Amino acid sequence: NWTTGNIVEEQVERIRGQIGDSRVICGLSGGVDSAVAAALVQRAVGDQLTCVFVDHGLLREGEAEQVERDYVAATGVKLHVANEQQRFLSALAGVTDPETKRKIIGREFIRAFEAAEKAVLAEAAAEGESVKYLVQGTLYPDVVESGGGEGAANIKSHHNVGGLPEDLQFELVEPLRTLFKDEVRAVGAQLGLPAEIVGRQPFPGPGLGIRIIGEVTQERLDLLRKADAIARAELTAAGLDQEVWQMPVVLLADVRSVGVQGDGRTYGHPIVLRPVSSEDAMTADWSRLPYDLLARISNRITNEVDGVNRVVLDVTSKPPGTIEWE
Ligand code: XMP
Repeated sequence: NWTTGNIVEEQVERIRGQIGDSRVICGLSGGVDSAVAAALVQRAVGDQLTCVFVDHGLLREGEAEQVERDYVAATGVKLHVANEQQRFLSALAGVTDPETKRKIIGREFIRAFEAAEKAVLAEAAAEGESVKYLVQGTLYPDVVESGGGEGAANIKSHHNVGGLPEDLQFELVEPLRTLFKDEVRAVGAQLGLPAEIVGRQPFPGPGLGIRIIGEVTQERLDLLRKADAIARAELTAAGLDQEVWQMPVVLLADVRSVGVQGDGRTYGHPIVLRPVSSEDAMTADWSRLPYDLLARISNRITNEVDGVNRVVLDVTSKPPGTIEWE
């Protein structure tokens, strides 16, 4: 009889067996997989684990705090935070091409993670310890997708910002390797992780960096974060956040249109809502959200977010559109 309680117990035993009394490191992305994997390892070996969170400044409102405050409070995990917002902004300055953005974000992420990793290794060395293991939140579908062999965990490493470079000096610990996503969420809930992390919908590793169509700047990130927070809050208030697969909110930073607000003409940016329904993100359909909900989101965003004077709805399926705009 397979319960989440069994899964936790069995994995904790297995992890203890693998790691012994060595030190172990884990990157947290803000997503559910790395959060649950790290929580299992923490449960198994406590302070032998150090988590690293690279804050690239491209997360949505509240997500960095969910990791740095709520997740730490829930798990007691030892966390090393790398505040790298400036690094990413500088690297992205002047860049508009989507693939170039993705490459830059992936490259800077690896650099930032390696710098943080060095600091953690140095700390351990100062205590006469060495870090031998690295935790990865590889799921069963990832294992299957990549042929199931050893090293499968690295296939997605450049796709996922939670991922890592390939010249690993570590042995991998992969406590989610036999689990599906819904089981991972159940295990996360069982471990008492914050609901926002356990229930989080898919979110791309490059984050808001690929939801600003045009150059990424601090000002645009702030604007998009506000609009996205409003859209998500209203979707949740309508009780539809679990029904919708995900709802990217996109800023068309290079487009402006004329509007009228109060007693004046505006020349602002459009925000795109991209709610989709899907089984696996390979194909998707646009979600038929209630008009009242769309109206509330639109009213609030145009009223509350300076610089936005229009909200539009993406009614394209995948294919031909992808879920994300970049
Ligand atoms: P597309 O836009 O290709 O997205 O239809 C399919 C799914 O993948 C997510 N996505 C990403 N996830 N790193 C990720 O971890 C990425 O670079 C990335 N790009 C897209 C997207 O949100 C959707 O769920």
